Amino acid sequence: MIPRIFIPDDSGALALGAEKVAKAIEKELKERGIEAKIVRNGSRGAYFLEPMVEVACDAGRVAYGPVKVSDVKGLFDSGFLKGSHHKRWLGDPAKIPFLAKQTRLTFARCGITDPLSLDAYERHGGLKGLRKAIAMQPADIVKQVTDSGLRGRGGAGFPTGIKWKTVLDTAADQKYIVCNADEGDSATFADRMIMEGDPFVLIEGMAIAGIATGATKGYIYIRSEYPHAVAKMNRAVEIARKAGVLGVKVLGSAHAFDMEVRVGAGAYVCGEETSLLNSLEGKRGVVRAKPPLPAIQGLFGKPTVINNVISLASVPIVMDKGAEYYRDFGMGRSRGTIPIQIAGNVKHGGLFETAFGLTLGEIVDDIGGGTASGRPVKAVQVGGPLGAYFPRGLFDTPFDYEEFAKRDGLIGHAGITVFDDSADMLKMARFAMEFCAVESCGKCTPCRVGAVRGTETIDRIAAGIEPEKNLTLVTDLCNTMKFGSLCALGGFTPYPVMSALTHFPEDFKPAPVRAAAE
Ligand SMILES: Cc1cc2nc3c(=O)[nH]c(=O)nc-3n(C[C@H](O)[C@H](O)[C@H](O)COP(=O)(O)O)c2cc1C
Ligand code: SF4
Repeated sequence: MIPRIFIPDDSGALALGAEKVAKAIEKELKERGIEAKIVRNGSRGAYFLEPMVEVACDAGRVAYGPVKVSDVKGLFDSGFLKGSHHKRWLGDPAKIPFLAKQTRLTFARCGITDPLSLDAYERHGGLKGLRKAIAMQPADIVKQVTDSGLRGRGGAGFPTGIKWKTVLDTAADQKYIVCNADEGDSATFADRMIMEGDPFVLIEGMAIAGIATGATKGYIYIRSEYPHAVAKMNRAVEIARKAGVLGVKVLGSAHAFDMEVRVGAGAYVCGEETSLLNSLEGKRGVVRAKPPLPAIQGLFGKPTVINNVISLASVPIVMDKGAEYYRDFGMGRSRGTIPIQIAGNVKHGGLFETAFGLTLGEIVDDIGGGTASGRPVKAVQVGGPLGAYFPRGLFDTPFDYEEFAKRDGLIGHAGITVFDDSADMLKMARFAMEFCAVESCGKCTPCRVGAVRGTETIDRIAAGIEPEKNLTLVTDLCNTMKFGSLCALGGFTPYPVMSALTHFPEDFKPAPVRAAAE
């Protein structure tokens, strides 16, 4: 058997040197006259082990990582093509604790298969969901998605099936499926990882959404900062079209569905669904007032399903294995699995797909292994730049939409950023306000003006100018922004600000007091 060598070409792995490692391996193969097949797979998501090279040999899959160019000769000398021991040897990747502890439903193939091989996709369970959907009535597909309990993974956690039902029930000559791949939240990379590592699962999910709602055209709106994902998705769409997965007769059925990739120009607010639709239509990315809902009047005024990448990529497994199978994972109203993205100052950063319900402490301490700096964890921001900072005292919070909301937090797109005890929470609160000021679309006053005034007021607190009065002012301003903003950019900025203020009041003491304490 010719050995196969898997070297990820996922952006994360590339950033860590995977391309140079691939070149060094190719060179070594040539020089030694060894025949082997190199497969450029996605990442399995254990980024602290990337570049992780795997060999498929008689012993099965054997992983090595993190591999440096300087390791390559030694790997060949030690006989790694047969899975032999080496200082970078990790053994069976499925048994690496970070990976073994996961429940991979949406990311089942990511890092395992060749992302652009439709054959490999099918061999590993792909297209089964679409085939089942084709044999069903649209309303039954929608019911299955609703019954699975799947909620939007983009941030708001809105039930996916209910959104689809609105589009199905709205008569129109044209409907659209729009995939939100803007992925602007800090610490998030799940959308990118799946687009680069298993693009057909997103295509399959979108095709199912089209058949379920009567939409024949889809758009994937990808942020421009994701050139590898854009290239992979474009290629995958071409392959799917050629194979008849997309087109006028999806898999030979009576259903038509096709899609295009569109690239955003790089604004956080263009991840907000109505702003995204404006951008997709070639207009400025400004938030639209709701109603009308995009499900009724969305892209070009037509009924539109707009879903996050992970929401759509989770649909094939729901259709394949059934609603009950999916909803059996999770807790409360948070059903199924969630790809948690662990980042920031953390030892084991990466993507961890698991059923809802792990506590924040388990995720940070057990899975993440604590801080990379080795200092105590001070705070964890969950849910991107608009998410709250949780102190260690709240580490018993289960990863669940409602449980986080009860503690004035949010799950968002499930990105978590870890900070050690050197973090200054006043600076983080200021950053949140400044971020909102910079990214505001400017449509409503509480956000456009509030965020600027908020930044100035926090600066005054830092300078020790009337701190008590200015703290009251920030609190008051946060209330106005929370309840008066048109969208969640202005509406949720108070979460990081108020959580920093509430849980770390010592960081908001006037500058002379803080300096004396340091
Ligand atoms: C400022 C802002 C930025 C957002 N950015 C994203 C994003 O990058 N990706 C995303 O999927 N949803 C984002 N959302 C949420 C979307 O508005 C919307 O809820 C989502 O696309 C719906 O898909 P889902 O139901 O599958 O989550 C953002 C919302 C706001 C207010
Ligand atoms: S809250 Fe901010 S981003 Fe949202 S509509 Fe208002 S100005 Fe625009």
